[in-house]
Amino acid sequence: MAYMHWRIELEVGHGQIDNEHRSLVDVLNRLHAAMKQGKGKDEIERVLVFLKDYTVGHFKAEEALMMTHGYPGAQAHMAIHADLVKQVKDLIEGFQSGKTLLTASMLAFLEEWLVKHIMGEDKAFGAFLKSKGVAA
Ligand SMILES: [Fe+2]
Ligand SMILES: [Fe+2]
Repeated sequence: MAYMHWRIELEVGHGQIDNEHRSLVDVLNRLHAAMKQGKGKDEIERVLVFLKDYTVGHFKAEEALMMTHGYPGAQAHMAIHADLVKQVKDLIEGFQSGKTLLTASMLAFLEEWLVKHIMGEDKAFGAFLKSKGVAA
């Protein structure tokens, strides 16, 4: 069973952003499955690195849209993105060095972060795009 389900409330109303968020939910589910199936460190590390790379790409895409459309909340939103990327990088480093294990609480942290960010900052940005008549 999937760890986390996509739900309609998570939609911000911009096709590309919503698709990328769906993919992030998929990656969290892959991470959960790898953990549950007791996959080796290498496999879990691969999924963690994929999650980080996908997240970085997604944040870049959102930030490019902010620049293109002159979003006034861009600075604050970008700072939140940078903070998460740092946390995920630290997590991977800890995992690689054997200091950190992938735990249920770590997955819960990632899920909570994603939901909170989508429901808060990303929805605000989605509403801004809508107000500007930006279709995607
Ligand atoms: Fe996002
Ligand atoms: Fe965002």
